[in-house]
Amino acid sequence: MISSPSPWIPTLILLLLSLPIIFFFTSRILPPPPPPISLPDELDDLTLFRRAAAAESHPTRRPKSRLGFTNSKPKIAFLFLTNTDLQFAPLWEKFFNPNKSQSQKSQNRNLYNVYVHADPTVKPGIKPPGGVFSQNRFIPAKQTHRGTATLIAAARRLIATAIIDDPANQFFTLISQHCIPLHSFQFLYNTLFETKSHQLAELKNLKYKSFIEIISQDPNLWDRYTARGDNVMVPEVKFESFRVGSQFFTLTREHALMVVNERRLWKKFRLPCLRPQSCYPEEHYFPTFLSNEDPKGCAGYTLTRVNWTDSVNGHPHTYFPSEVSPELIYSLRRSSFAQPYMFARKFSPACLNLLMDMADEVIFRD
Ligand SMILES: *[C@@H]1O[C@H](CO)[C@@H](O)[C@H](O)[C@H]1NC(C)=O
Ligand SMILES: *[C@@H]1O[C@H](CO)[C@@H](O)[C@H](O)[C@H]1NC(C)=O
Repeated sequence: MISSPSPWIPTLILLLLSLPIIFFFTSRILPPPPPPISLPDELDDLTLFRRAAAAESHPTRRPKSRLGFTNSKPKIAFLFLTNTDLQFAPLWEKFFNPNKSQSQKSQNRNLYNVYVHADPTVKPGIKPPGGVFSQNRFIPAKQTHRGTATLIAAARRLIATAIIDDPANQFFTLISQHCIPLHSFQFLYNTLFETKSHQLAELKNLKYKSFIEIISQDPNLWDRYTARGDNVMVPEVKFESFRVGSQFFTLTREHALMVVNERRLWKKFRLPCLRPQSCYPEEHYFPTFLSNEDPKGCAGYTLTRVNWTDSVNGHPHTYFPSEVSPELIYSLRRSSFAQPYMFARKFSPACLNLLMDMADEVIFRD
């Protein structure tokens, strides 16, 4: 008996025919997942990190003072991580060189170093704005993708370069292109290196802390921990020791060295995520590692103010010109910790002129 063709067959054919169309459209909506970090990139980084460790363990070339510092005055390394033009370069320029007075300029000059990691794949290319951001402050950089371990790698690249470049770099502050300063350089410097004369006797035991947020109570902690799949992070990273925190931190030299020497956790954090919405490796790796290795050496909070109210897609609130006022700066500075906030993000590029107008009278007046 010959049956009449099933009514399903035309439907099936239609479905099969439409599959490429569906694929075509979803691939246009969802960008392809970013590639994992390549082996050559990984090896480049390892070489750099080994050089940083070697540079540190050359005590003959690095005479240290009684305080553990090199003989020159301790400096702050500013590590700019960007995938756009440095939109607030003029404001940062003013931060480093507060006014045209030559004496003030040279006073600050020996107390900081600037390093920039600019994604080299951005078209038409990120141009050094000059001044403190001259061409030679741009370090060899690699592509970065949001929600991937490339942001950890870029931060470690900056840290390692700064360790090698100048033994006087004692604090390492990570800054994004959306960050603005909330205080003067001098204020920041004095706060970080606060050593009052009456503490001199104790200086031998004095230990500086890193300012990095470390959170263990978070409703999304499990989602973030399992973003690469179940049981992927063990045994290197147990859920009990998994932490989240801020991407933007200020680390001591001791911690900076630990971070570039770290291999064990990196093996896990470098793995791609299955769920992009829970994947912020750069907010997990540093707090997890440092809180496990040296919890007492971490303040547990960051100096960079971020407004997470009504965050969208993992992006914090972005400030636009209509919100910018002296009152905003004052309120962003206020913190419930021992130090006020020193930096804030995110600001839209359109805020630059307003911020420049109030730089001398508000932002850099402490
Ligand atoms: C600018 O320089 C003057 C001295 O020429 C100094 O008194 C003042 O504090 C400086 N401004 C800032 C913001 O440091
Ligand atoms: C934080 O952002 C919200 C909007 O998302 C805004 O209403 C609030 O004023 C902001 N807070 C501060 C301190 O700027």
